Amino acid sequence: MDKIVIRGGTPLSGTVHVSGSKNAALPIIASALLTDGWNTFHNIPDLVDIESIKNLLQTLGANVTGRDPVVINAGRCSCQEAPYDIVRKMRASILVLGPLLSRWGRARVSLPGGCAIGARPVNLHLKALHALGAQIELVDGYIDARAQRLRGATIFFDVPTVTGTENIMMAAALADGTTVLENAAREPEIVNLADVLNTMGARIEGAGTNVITIEGVRDLHAVEASVIPDRIEAGTYMIATAMTGGELLLTGCDPSHLDALVTKLTETGITVDTSTDFVRVRSNGPLHSVDVTTLPYPGFPTDYQAQIMALMTTARGTSVISETVFENRFMHVNELMRLGADIAIEGHHAVVKGVPSLRGAPVMATDLRASASLIIAGLAAEGETIVSRVYHLDRGYERIEEKLSACGVDIRRVPS
Ligand code: EPZ
Repeated sequence: MDKIVIRGGTPLSGTVHVSGSKNAALPIIASALLTDGWNTFHNIPDLVDIESIKNLLQTLGANVTGRDPVVINAGRCSCQEAPYDIVRKMRASILVLGPLLSRWGRARVSLPGGCAIGARPVNLHLKALHALGAQIELVDGYIDARAQRLRGATIFFDVPTVTGTENIMMAAALADGTTVLENAAREPEIVNLADVLNTMGARIEGAGTNVITIEGVRDLHAVEASVIPDRIEAGTYMIATAMTGGELLLTGCDPSHLDALVTKLTETGITVDTSTDFVRVRSNGPLHSVDVTTLPYPGFPTDYQAQIMALMTTARGTSVISETVFENRFMHVNELMRLGADIAIEGHHAVVKGVPSLRGAPVMATDLRASASLIIAGLAAEGETIVSRVYHLDRGYERIEEKLSACGVDIRRVPS
């Protein structure tokens, strides 16, 4: 397994172009299953998770070619089964359930199982599909779903689920009648998907708010569309710049997706200037500790939690970081403490006392965003930090060591 070796202490300086959003590309690629004909999707990031869902669509019989753009024709899909050995590698494979069921009237999708950050059940996906008239059975670890034709219904999500909202939006697009999703998730990736579905001929209103209305149609047609920039990648580089005391220009991003992070970073003392498609981040000396509570969008995203915790390890004061979305998203704490951080976990709160500096050490990545936080901490730690199990990183960050090297830091990948 590859490792990443960092010699810390150099401020980030330069320009990073933000890649397409992993979490927008995954549902948009899955949406091709709803159409006949050739879909062309642009701004697709080069990530392991993207290859996983392309592989899944090929397993289902779709014709999938190209990296960016990716071209997909699902007109001849001959299989409606998403096998365990694919789903277990990437839980977002659940996103094929809604499209398969509404297009072909049946789907057999492996239950995704939990992951490092939590149990992450899919009960809300299934409850909603059942409300749309699907017969759902759980057999041998698989979701076995059938429906003559889904019927529109009003669905209230117990919690705002991102992929749950996306899955049901895609299922309802071909249902008979009107579906209303209440307490829907509001992430920009949902708006991106709704825009693509509407271009395909769907009738969806309210994406980006907590009430989404979907007027079912008989069929959808293939389109050419683009994926929005990755706000989590952008925020990760912004935090890395703050951690190293540097100055960074982020191009190709959408600052309107970054409000919660920009506000929080400004509170620490960082200067953030934004324009239509770029963000400039500048450090102005020692940072102040700030408290953070993760919430569904537009609240502070849980996908930045590990990264901002790394930042708080050397800020002045004490920061309380509360994780309210996932039940086990503190796996990075022990690894940050190996670098000299002072962190105490109290339930779903992490109390981070700022220390003067971190010292490099071998650390182990445990999940995608935890690995990003270790990279960030290593950029500032004195001496050498070796991050192992970086396959986690490759799931969600395109060429991270190249992008960071181009900003002047000493980072290299050591193949195993
Ligand atoms: C999406 O995951 C993202 N992944 C995650 O990003 C992100 O952390 C998460 O949303 C929250 O923003 C993709 O978009 C591919 P949820 P998702 O359903 O949809 C509970 C990354 O780092 N829940 O919004 O799986 C769940 O346990 C990844 O890029 C149920 O209880 O998350 C969690 O506590 C990590 N039952 C909460 O809802 C359900 O049926 C929010 O989860 C569904 C969810």
